[in-house]
Amino acid sequence: MTAARGTRLSRRSVLTSALALTACGRGATRASADPAQAAARRGPVPLLRDLAPFQIGTEIVSDDFGPGFDAVASTQFSQITSGYELKMEYILQPDGRLRFEGGDRIAAFCAANHQALHAHTLIWYIDNPPSFQKLEGDRKAFDAAYGRYIQAVAGRYAGQARAWDVVNEPINDDGETLRESIWTRNLGLEGHFIRAHEAAREADPHALLFVNEYGLESNPKKRAKFLNFVEAMLKRGVPIDGIGTQNHVNFELPPGQITAALRDAASLGLPVHLSEFDCSLQTDGPSLMARPDRLKAQNRLYREALEAFVALPEKQQYAFTIWGVRDKDSWLRTATWVKDHTDAPLLFDDDARPKETFWTLADVLRGR
Ligand code: G3I
Repeated sequence: MTAARGTRLSRRSVLTSALALTACGRGATRASADPAQAAARRGPVPLLRDLAPFQIGTEIVSDDFGPGFDAVASTQFSQITSGYELKMEYILQPDGRLRFEGGDRIAAFCAANHQALHAHTLIWYIDNPPSFQKLEGDRKAFDAAYGRYIQAVAGRYAGQARAWDVVNEPINDDGETLRESIWTRNLGLEGHFIRAHEAAREADPHALLFVNEYGLESNPKKRAKFLNFVEAMLKRGVPIDGIGTQNHVNFELPPGQITAALRDAASLGLPVHLSEFDCSLQTDGPSLMARPDRLKAQNRLYREALEAFVALPEKQQYAFTIWGVRDKDSWLRTATWVKDHTDAPLLFDDDARPKETFWTLADVLRGR
């Protein structure tokens, strides 16, 4: 999908103004539910996948499979993002062999539960595999191996994956430059991106191809750079079918930033994936806010995120995805750097019971 050549106004500016008018027509953001009132709410636990007219997703890692986890992950969500087993760090072995057991487990879980699979991710700046290091400096060999890897992985899940995050997190946090990596060093800053999208399209012509990025809600400069980059690639005819905006936030994020970022992300006119939502109760620096107040702020952000997604034009509502099922599954609990293991960023507690964040999303989906 590319912008009409010679358009006087950029594609984004035309769409942005139309979107802004539409959003205004929807009236002010509703007052957020008071978690105390919400806590009084009980009754049968609804299924988010039944309430949402669009895909509502979660991220899973097959290590988490087990009775409590499966009961929620298989019933509440209509889409699954693979958090680990479809990444190069899992698939590509030091000797160059590929392992697919984990990815196959995730794909089988989706098929068994009639869930769409959002495959994450083919190329990431973080990866620096030995089998590619050996090819550095030989562009032809490197390019051939790059294409073979994408063909082998995206080709294996053709017909199973609804979409792929093709190149994950291409923009530096400075909002000025593209990230450098083994991929950019050997195939070029834009070349590695174009090659990956073309190879993915060839490997699985039916999968939607997404560009996925974090920090767009908190870093307007990075957001502008990201959207300008994607628009430039679209104008060059690069096959891009959607925008992923991760939204890993914490309770201190000021109201309105998620909404503004989502509206900007939609300005390209592509389907938008709110792809990795979680709201941490931790902060980088000290905070005097007591936990009950952090929970209220967290619920307000959950409400804002889903209301902003619901306000998008229907054809741009690709999926709303929470990054994990139970708090204890969250990367915010399991990452090596985590010190405080009390974080509660998700919808379900450690025992897979729905929390206020769950009821908040259910309320939004029921128009409350
Ligand atoms: O499954 C193995 C386990 O068998 C082994 O014992 C253990 C120790 O080596 O590792 C386990 O694999 C870990 C995997 O998570 C599952 O827990 C990997 O080492 C670890 O690297 C992997 O971390 C993932 C991280 O991306 C890096 O791939 C997190 O789960 C995942 O939540 C996180 O997700 C990223 C998105 O891809 C991009 N956006 C940011 C987001 C959060 O960092």
